[in-house]
Amino acid sequence: MSEHHTPVMLKESLDLLIVDRSGKYFDATLGFAGHTQEILKRLNPDGLLVASEVDKEAFEYCQNKFADELRLNLYNFNFSLIDVIAKIESIDFFDGVLADLGVSSFQLDEPSAGFTFRTDAVLDLRMDKTKNITASDIVNTFTEEDLANIFYEYGEEKNSRKIARSIVNYRLKKKIENTSDLVSIIEALVPQYYLRKTLARVFQALRIYVNDELGNLKTFLENSVKVLKKNGRLVVITYHSLEDKIVKDFFKEKSLVTLSPKEDPLGIIKKEAKLKIITKKPITPSEDEVKNNYRARSAKLRVAERL
Ligand SMILES: C[S@@+](CC[C@H](N)C(=O)[O-])C[C@H]1O[C@@H](n2cnc3c(N)ncnc32)[C@H](O)[C@@H]1O
Repeated sequence: MSEHHTPVMLKESLDLLIVDRSGKYFDATLGFAGHTQEILKRLNPDGLLVASEVDKEAFEYCQNKFADELRLNLYNFNFSLIDVIAKIESIDFFDGVLADLGVSSFQLDEPSAGFTFRTDAVLDLRMDKTKNITASDIVNTFTEEDLANIFYEYGEEKNSRKIARSIVNYRLKKKIENTSDLVSIIEALVPQYYLRKTLARVFQALRIYVNDELGNLKTFLENSVKVLKKNGRLVVITYHSLEDKIVKDFFKEKSLVTLSPKEDPLGIIKKEAKLKIITKKPITPSEDEVKNNYRARSAKLRVAERL
């Protein structure tokens, strides 16, 4: 299963993450342990790595794989709960926190995981299958306006209204249950040339909404700062502009000591900077990496240090 995912910017991210080889680290997005395994290689015998993963299948795969690894503690938790996990582990502060966002290649390519539009599967898109709402629930019950807003906001899809209208018309006759139902609706609207990109945007929008990916990311960033040691690093790899903007804005906000006159016209609010930005511009994968791993093409790596 692990061959299904090649870790992205492995060296770049870990060179910036690991400041103390005997430290305690948090890998927010275990996946198939590409980064996890490499962190363990770099840690001393007294180092510790704690990792979270919402997807049960990936979590169980790693539980088996690392059954004998005493320096690794795994949680089938949402990463937004990093502060709760730290409490359970009796850890006050981590030396570094890594998040490699989005979904794994296994989730994207494996029909049974239900994330792909390339093969027919149940239209689900939940990473955490214990959560109630599926993509099928959304396309079958949300109003035309709400659907259009989801496609526009989370998929940056220009044809959002047209697609939403077609979905609402289609479901009057037949329930939308499988990925192929949604693909056929969009196929009838969009020229073949644009089809793949449109499908990718619509599926991305539904996935982000179903998993509350942006909400979880914001909570995770806030909570990470609370449990990061002074000089500890927060390292985040994003795969689309919506995620990257959240990380960029968060780093900027937490690294500002003074507020703008508009935010604080009387100049009386005292604000303490919590982070120093290490990557003024995001680091992107080398040409070679993109050649060998297509999924890396949109990756951006941002790093901040706890003050
Ligand atoms: C890009 S993959 C990580 C790959 C991993 N770094 C590797 O190299 O094998 C992202 C993983 O994060 C998980 N994930 C996404 N959102 C999550 C969340 N809110 N909490 C915990 N895990 C999450 C996904 O299920 C997926 O397995």
